[in-house]
Amino acid sequence: MKIEDLAIPETARQIIIKSGITELYPPQEEAIHAGALDGKNLVLASPTASGKTLIAELCALKHIIKGNGKVLYLTPLRALASEKYQEFRRYSVLRKNDGRKIRVGISTGDYDSSDNWLERYDIIISTNEKTDSLLRHRTKWMGEISLIVADEVHLLNDGDRGPTLEVVLARLMQINPKAQLLALSATVRNAEEAAEWLKADCITTEWRPVVLKEGVACQNEILFKDGGATKIEKHSKNPAINLALHIIKSGGQALIFASTRKNSVSLAKKAAVEVNSFLSKPLKRFLERFAEQILAAGEKTRISDLLADLVRRGTAFHNAGLSGAHRRLIEKAFRNGKIKVLTATPTLAFGVNLPARMVVVHDYRRYEPGYGFYPIAVLEYKQMAGRAGRPRYDKVGEAILLAKTKDEQDYLLESYVLAQPERIWSKLAVERVLRSHVLATIAADFAHTEQGIYDFFGKTFYAYQYEAKAMRDVITRILKFLYDEEMIDVSGENIYATRFGRRISELYIDPVTGVLIRDALRNRAPMLTDLSFLHMIAHTPDIFPRLRPYSRETDELALFVDKHRSEFMFPVPDEWEDRIAYEGFLGEAKLARVLKSWIEERSEDELIGKFAVQPGDLYRVIDSSKWLLYASQELARLFKHKDILPNLSELMERVRKGVKKELLPLVKLEGIGRVRARILHNAGLKTVDDLKRAPVEKLTSLPLIGLKLSKKIKDQVGGFIKAEEWEKLKKGEEPEQKAITEY
Ligand SMILES: Nc1ncnc2c1ncn2[C@@H]1O[C@H](COP(=O)(O)OP(=O)(O)OP(=O)(O)O)[C@@H](O)[C@H]1O
Ligand SMILES: [Mg+2]
Repeated sequence: MKIEDLAIPETARQIIIKSGITELYPPQEEAIHAGALDGKNLVLASPTASGKTLIAELCALKHIIKGNGKVLYLTPLRALASEKYQEFRRYSVLRKNDGRKIRVGISTGDYDSSDNWLERYDIIISTNEKTDSLLRHRTKWMGEISLIVADEVHLLNDGDRGPTLEVVLARLMQINPKAQLLALSATVRNAEEAAEWLKADCITTEWRPVVLKEGVACQNEILFKDGGATKIEKHSKNPAINLALHIIKSGGQALIFASTRKNSVSLAKKAAVEVNSFLSKPLKRFLERFAEQILAAGEKTRISDLLADLVRRGTAFHNAGLSGAHRRLIEKAFRNGKIKVLTATPTLAFGVNLPARMVVVHDYRRYEPGYGFYPIAVLEYKQMAGRAGRPRYDKVGEAILLAKTKDEQDYLLESYVLAQPERIWSKLAVERVLRSHVLATIAADFAHTEQGIYDFFGKTFYAYQYEAKAMRDVITRILKFLYDEEMIDVSGENIYATRFGRRISELYIDPVTGVLIRDALRNRAPMLTDLSFLHMIAHTPDIFPRLRPYSRETDELALFVDKHRSEFMFPVPDEWEDRIAYEGFLGEAKLARVLKSWIEERSEDELIGKFAVQPGDLYRVIDSSKWLLYASQELARLFKHKDILPNLSELMERVRKGVKKELLPLVKLEGIGRVRARILHNAGLKTVDDLKRAPVEKLTSLPLIGLKLSKKIKDQVGGFIKAEEWEKLKKGEEPEQKAITEY
């Protein structure tokens, strides 16, 4: 079926054709025949790269242009949300029937907000978590949604992400029973079952637009699924690198999945040595400049140095230890063909379109602390493999597993390459997970009686797969907990949320976190310091990521805990009576120390050196801490602890910016982060008034403060620069100073 023949407006067709798509792929055609454009609920379970997004785009246009309502596109990850946002944005030149242009919006941040401003948008891209939080705020426009798209719906199977997705879908279906639902899934064995739950028809196909040659390499020979074999030239001791070089020689790029961050880095280091000799002179010149960009994006650390060094040699790694800025730069350079070999942890396995002609799955075993090594699921392998051979980039793709022996080669062929992905199973009925969903069900008015709550959870995928009864006991226990902790109250048959309960639900925190903070604020530490609050949030189940102390750190941490005993809001567990709790406490103390060092202006590199905390982790810790400090402040307000409100709000600002108190007035200015604020302060420019009065030459004479920024500062503080002075300065200005972007 040609795009030209589709029943969508001509202008929309032109946009699609211009992007290089002229004909529908067979699975897409099947979806259209199955009624995708006629409002039918569908689960599309088709292989990676089979173009599931386009169906969602066509449906969205159909809904919007006719003026039916809003489209909500759910993704499991922020990174994927922004890729989808870019894709949908190209339709924003189109007009709806009412003459207005289509508006595409994205909402992924800040959980304590109803984001009513999104009401203006027609297509809203959001993460599952953000949508969950919007539902808890009873956001009005949620009721106007006429098309729900759920991407990567096989993640229902994921213990971390599945439950939220499941509850969000159940809630959306309850609010908008007439809305069309389009669920996009990898091929899984029980797609039919998911479809039945969603009252949808199921379309399953095995078709892929680009042939994906899957195989297993052993001793530099790849055995393929179809029985074929290829010999690989041996350059390096490492088979993954030989495979990568083989693909570079054919003009392609390689993506190597490693099981840990450490492995992703060490593989990249080894690969860079070899890749270097395959780069052309112009490419090397580009990479030289690109390395400078890497160094300028954020504070200089041993990690940015290493990354820049690898990038110069056409190689990079991509893992959660990198800052978001670095991850985005690396993704872009790989997309543009500048990085030839990218090593990555499985964070890059979902949904993204990358020009990897070859994917190497370096380890099919994964280490999970507490469990040891276990082989990954076929579903996960297929997702990684599916990053190779994407239609926009390559005509053929290869996905290769590595085996050490012939025996293992056979095993891998059978267990992964030729295997069917598993069934997916709901992971909802875990008390820790269900707690906040039960509270939210009451607080956001989805149910008002015990029976109503059972009924709501009776509509989840869990209840569909198992039995509603199986969840009943857990829910009953949770209700008792919520009642005992005064988050809910009962009047006759009716259950309702107290103000406390409602606020917990809106703040998007675990009820246990709410209880811990409430009690800590009431009982207080004997000596109340910044550390008291930082440890308080580190003690909650919502802090993320948790930091494990290394064994070399435990002695020092134990001393630290002892020294600051009177500052903690919670008793220190006895080292001999409860070793596990004690070690947990040391981990929390470590996290609090990292935050304390951050707000004492320790550099990112010092934090890596002292605590082995990489920038990606640091930023995630900062993000969750900001949110938990905000929640603490809101609870302090609710429980009328006025005396500590100023402490909490100052601490929150300092954590946000990573500065001592004295820099707070300076970091409020746009363009001024912790590094530049410190430079200004050390030069005697300590207040907004100082900046207002300072001659502009004084500003421009400081490191990292160029002419443009000086003007921006002056604009903000209300100082003014005479026209002739400005001209004079502009003439004398050296070529644009190297800018660093600050956190
Ligand atoms: N009919 C078509 N003709 C040509 N290219 C297409 C067509 N449909 C989609 N594409 C392109 O195919 C690529 C893969 O599409 P998409 O990202 O939607 O795959 P997917 O099925 O969602 O895969 P995954 O399961 O990995 O998320 C995109 O670059 C898209 O532009
Ligand atoms: Mg996709």
